[in-house]
Amino acid sequence: MLDTVLGLFSQDLAVDLGTSNTRVHLSGRGLLCDEPTALALQVLPDGSREVIATGVEARAMVGRTPPDIEAVHPVRAGRVTEHDVTEALILALMRRAHGRNGWMRPRIVLGVPHRATAAELDAVADRFDAVGTREVRLIPRPVAAAVGAGLPVWEADTVMVVDVGGGTTEISILQSSEVVSSTILEQGGLAMDAAVAAWVEREWDLRIGPRSAEALKIDVGSAIEEGLIHSGVAKGRCLRRGLPRAQSVTPSDVHSALTSVVDAIAQATRDLLDEAPPSAAAAVRSQGVILAGGGSLLRDLDVALRDRLQIPFIVAESPQRAVITGLARILEDSALQHTIARVDR
Ligand SMILES: Nc1ncnc2c1ncn2[C@@H]1O[C@H](COP(=O)(O)OP(=O)(O)OP(=O)(O)O)[C@@H](O)[C@H]1O
Ligand SMILES: [Mg+2]
Repeated sequence: MLDTVLGLFSQDLAVDLGTSNTRVHLSGRGLLCDEPTALALQVLPDGSREVIATGVEARAMVGRTPPDIEAVHPVRAGRVTEHDVTEALILALMRRAHGRNGWMRPRIVLGVPHRATAAELDAVADRFDAVGTREVRLIPRPVAAAVGAGLPVWEADTVMVVDVGGGTTEISILQSSEVVSSTILEQGGLAMDAAVAAWVEREWDLRIGPRSAEALKIDVGSAIEEGLIHSGVAKGRCLRRGLPRAQSVTPSDVHSALTSVVDAIAQATRDLLDEAPPSAAAAVRSQGVILAGGGSLLRDLDVALRDRLQIPFIVAESPQRAVITGLARILEDSALQHTIARVDR
């Protein structure tokens, strides 16, 4: 009864805590936050840490922080590794959603990796409980991504989703809104950035930071040789002379650097299809694979994967938001909530 009354006033949230980005949807209102999963913490004299910035502001501080300020990414390879910091982030998000005066125990719909362990799920859900939420409903991210891509997953259709995120690529086959086969590759956009940085260092003895590597990937990178456009500039520190230096980088260089990650995604997708029940694999081969996640915005990734697997790959609309769009739909649509299989804790 009390929960019903609270439900009338509380504003519920859909949350996707990704390795690179945190996305939050506030029920009845829309997308509230789409920002880097980062916090800047000030280390106080007694050793405790106080949050001084989150999101875009915190990410801008990475590498530029004075010694008493620490920049933290609490989610690594799709898993929450720093629980206290994550709780601070959740608290900051709740304040942004509901104001400083508090909130009436909202319900949370949270996207989780399909293969998360019960202990991992408990640990994260407990952090929501700790800031005063009423219920944390756990939804597998691949199911949310499929809903967000506009697919009728609750029908008996077979759907394959490849979510190329920052820290992971989660590859899943769904049937009637349930994940029937899945695998997680600990390579995504960040691995692409690292591959670009390693290439630049090997070719030109030039060390570049993760932000420059990411910029080269986005501006100049392509998953196929023919998709190449203009050159870019890598700015970093020369390892021979120790001085700042700029180096022109061709699209062909960036493409070569990215090949190993694209190959790994193709191979993991192929392996999962090979292991899947033959009828599911046949359905995927004829209908194609949905690409989601920010990493799927890599130029011509769909073409490269199609060439390797001989299956159509279709990039979801706004793929980086497919999961939060799906979670938001599930949050707002109570009929859908009952149809979609949730993860039990
Ligand atoms: N236009 C683009 N081209 C290539 N990569 C891009 C582009 N835009 C964003 N990305 C990459 O997408 C990645 C982030 O994707 P996303 O926000 O889906 O990750 P996440 O959900 O936080 O991570 P995960 O799902 O692994 O926990 C980053 O590595 C970013 O560089
Ligand atoms: Mg993600």
